[in-house]
Amino acid sequence: MRFVRWHPGEEMPTPQWRDQQPHFLSPSRRYVYLVWLGACEFNVHVVICSAFRQAGERMPDMSPATRPLPTDPTGSTMKLFILFLLASCFPLCASAAELKVDLGHGAVSYHTDALLRRADARWISVVDDVAFRRTMHYHAVPLAALLDDIGPGDHLQFVAADGFAAEIPAALLLNTRGSTAWLAIEDPAKPWPALPGHGHAGPFYVVWTRPRAAAVGPEQWPYQLASIRLLDSVAERFPAIVPDPSLRAGSKVKRGFAIFQRTCFACHTLNGQGDSKLGPDLNIPYSPTEYLRADLLRAFVRDPQSLRRWPQAKMPGFDTQSLSDADLDALLAYLRHMAGRKARP
Ligand code: HEC
Repeated sequence: MRFVRWHPGEEMPTPQWRDQQPHFLSPSRRYVYLVWLGACEFNVHVVICSAFRQAGERMPDMSPATRPLPTDPTGSTMKLFILFLLASCFPLCASAAELKVDLGHGAVSYHTDALLRRADARWISVVDDVAFRRTMHYHAVPLAALLDDIGPGDHLQFVAADGFAAEIPAALLLNTRGSTAWLAIEDPAKPWPALPGHGHAGPFYVVWTRPRAAAVGPEQWPYQLASIRLLDSVAERFPAIVPDPSLRAGSKVKRGFAIFQRTCFACHTLNGQGDSKLGPDLNIPYSPTEYLRADLLRAFVRDPQSLRRWPQAKMPGFDTQSLSDADLDALLAYLRHMAGRKARP
């Protein structure tokens, strides 16, 4: 496993980065590849048969594919050659596809043709496209138009055909901060070029216009998109990390809970819950607020090496730019509060 280098203040690393995935052909690509191989094999077989025929010999009938050959060997070889060329082009041709969208009230499928025919579909230009690394033009629909009734607090998961999953907060997709997300649709009649390096971006690809306005990260451009689904809220997925619900909305502890999710939850579990187990649990069996002096814990978060040093230590320090003093106060208030809400996993 490779560790994702992560700096305070950046988006949390998602557990599956695309470059951590062994990059095999996706199932649909694999199918196309096999069909292509089959076509090539058939052509080679027929060309060999034809050569034998020219030599006045007949191939033993091995399979139904060995049909009686035309009597004009020269013309047929030319036709076969053209056929072979056409078959070789086959993997470059994109096919129509379906995007599955599940927002918690039944999955809806959007077909390539229907998407391209939508009234809100249009041509857009994307400067510095993340996957193609140049300016690209796409037939696209605004992604928000496909995401009815999601709220800014929701999180959506974008799953690619090869299993890569990117999580994108709905607030970003709903264009509240000046960046617009688009679903780029590959028209099978005008397939996109291959990606630099490897692979193909179709059939669907999430692209952004003005990505810098909302600091959209490169991992938030999922391509080879197969489905989009609404993730349950953090409170539903990890109920044991939620502070006392009777606390008032703007309380320090609730603010600290939001800061914890943003800055610590990418690496630590709490009460045994969370996706990443890079660092120790921050409440079970003891909260650091129970066994570390308050000033040392504070100094530790700013610079972990100030408490103990060893070469393999992995926790990054948080300076006042990535975590203000007020935010650190709120975070520690949340940890102290949770020390009184232990839940055994
Ligand atoms: C990039 C991953 C990462 C992030 C983010 C992170 N930690 Fe850590 N943390 C670790 C790791 C790993 C350790 C174990 C020590 C080490 O290897 O540095 C650790 C250790 C700790 C410890 C020491 C526990 C002990 O008893 O030794 C505390 C306390 C702690 N982290 C609190 C926090 C808090 C609070 C935050 C959020 C502000 C945070 N960590 C963010 C990875 C992280």
